[in-house]
Amino acid sequence: AFASSNPHEDFLQCLTLNSTNDTSISQVVYTPANSSYSYVLDVSIQNLRFLTPDAPKPLVIVTPVDVSQVQTTVYCSRKYGLQVRMRSGGHDYEGLSYLSGVPFVILDLVNLRTITVDAGNATAWVQSGATVGELYYRISEKSMTLGFPAGVCPTVGVGGHFSGGGYGMMLRKYGLAADNIMDAQVVDVNGKLLDRKLMGEDLFWAIRGGGGNTFGVVVSWKIRLVPVPETVTGFAVLRTLDQNATSLVNKWQFIAAQELPDELYMRVILQSYNGADGNRTIQAIFQTLYLGEADELLDVMGSSFPELGLTREDCIEMPWINSTLYFTGFSGQPLEILLNRSSNTKSYFKNKSDYVKKPISEPVLEEIWKWFFKADQGALQMILNPYGGRMSEISESAIPFPHRAGKIYMIQHITAWNNGSVEESAKGISLIRSLYGFMAPYVSKSPRSAYVNYRDLDIGINNEFGNTSYRQASIWGTKYYNRNFDRLVRVKTAVDPSNFFRNEQSVPPLTSW
Ligand code: FDA
Repeated sequence: AFASSNPHEDFLQCLTLNSTNDTSISQVVYTPANSSYSYVLDVSIQNLRFLTPDAPKPLVIVTPVDVSQVQTTVYCSRKYGLQVRMRSGGHDYEGLSYLSGVPFVILDLVNLRTITVDAGNATAWVQSGATVGELYYRISEKSMTLGFPAGVCPTVGVGGHFSGGGYGMMLRKYGLAADNIMDAQVVDVNGKLLDRKLMGEDLFWAIRGGGGNTFGVVVSWKIRLVPVPETVTGFAVLRTLDQNATSLVNKWQFIAAQELPDELYMRVILQSYNGADGNRTIQAIFQTLYLGEADELLDVMGSSFPELGLTREDCIEMPWINSTLYFTGFSGQPLEILLNRSSNTKSYFKNKSDYVKKPISEPVLEEIWKWFFKADQGALQMILNPYGGRMSEISESAIPFPHRAGKIYMIQHITAWNNGSVEESAKGISLIRSLYGFMAPYVSKSPRSAYVNYRDLDIGINNEFGNTSYRQASIWGTKYYNRNFDRLVRVKTAVDPSNFFRNEQSVPPLTSW
């Protein structure tokens, strides 16, 4: 074939020439000339901030139906100098799976979502394009006493989620999703398909939390399923300032990570609300999963947190799989809703994360409430996620995710707004940046830690063109990975020295200090 002056024409031709599969690759390739292009591009975009006509668009979207097509896509994009952005569930907070400043291809794994559950051995193979909702559903088809400790939102994609850690309501009992990975299949920069044995322990370490779009395309994961009791209990108890929300949140900080049993995950959602009297108040919602029955839970709460005033009526007993619906507001709906990939959570948002090592005092909590009062109703939310339990037992270097013993909880700061106007967006972003500035004295320092799955480009980025030095990348890299950043750089340098797989916050190979 003649090389044309158009890299994406060459790329398309390369795909066809190298296609070995029965399904012709042309059936899974979308260019702007294709009538389905916009649908395929937009359908999994979660953050509506990036669903705009002037957002950069991919030259081509490829949605492989088998692994050989992933290999071909990597081979051809590298050959013709097109950047690849992999996308699984499209939930990246900064849209990095479908936006780029340079000519790019989206490798969308939506069609690779086979899940094979081996209940007897309590393991499963799950392809990256599956959502965690699909995974939970397939597990429950085989067993009601097995589960998996991954995210709360059912539409989150396994590919990005496991690549950054991944946690949900069983974090304290079983750790992260990435802590429970036993093997994986990765297409590397040369288009080779590697399993754990072939890739070696360094690369296998790096893909379990070292961030997506960096080390290769993870096409599937072997996971260890975890035991769950036949009956679990959930509650969501709401308290306002008049109902002692401040002192309850204060007390929660001392017990949620350090005193409560690992089976009990109690997080706090903070938001503000205009009461019937027109006055603004804070609502603290104590949202809880207990891996056991309500009577036991009432005993534990009665001795550790009687101030909350939990009653039997607050408690809902259910199978574990139903709790995955309960925490996303789908209670009472058929379980099949977990298979629905189209999300009800799309919004315009900008989020950030922080880690807390020492409880925040009541006077400071009261200062925090003022931020909610200043913001529009509903514009601001904070979710306090307790750590401790299993999280404190796993060493900081076991996988790249370093936030373990000594971190008592993670805060997710959330601002969301209702329309795409420049003003609304500027207002939301400025609000959360100022709040983040205010929080600095009360959270982890040097580095100010952050969770890579709550991606935040404000904390530092790579150079768009050219090399990013170790020093520059370590600004954001140590916040996400702390001391594990160095090992990630070494792995990256070994497996992808030309930095083919990259984005604004991918670990760079070592070119200069
Ligand atoms: P997406 O497809 O956008 O990918 C994210 C990143 O991974 C991108 O850089 C992408 O290129 C890369 N990537 C994707 N597939 C890959 C693959 N196969 N191989 C290598 N790299 C790949 N988190 C959490 O821990 N617990 C929770 O409960 C929630 N809940 C939640 C709710 C909602 C509404 C949102 C929007 C997000 C969350 N998250 C979360 C955060 C979530 O874990 C994070 O955004 C994940 O990276 C999303 O993975 P996706 O595959 O959906 O995203």
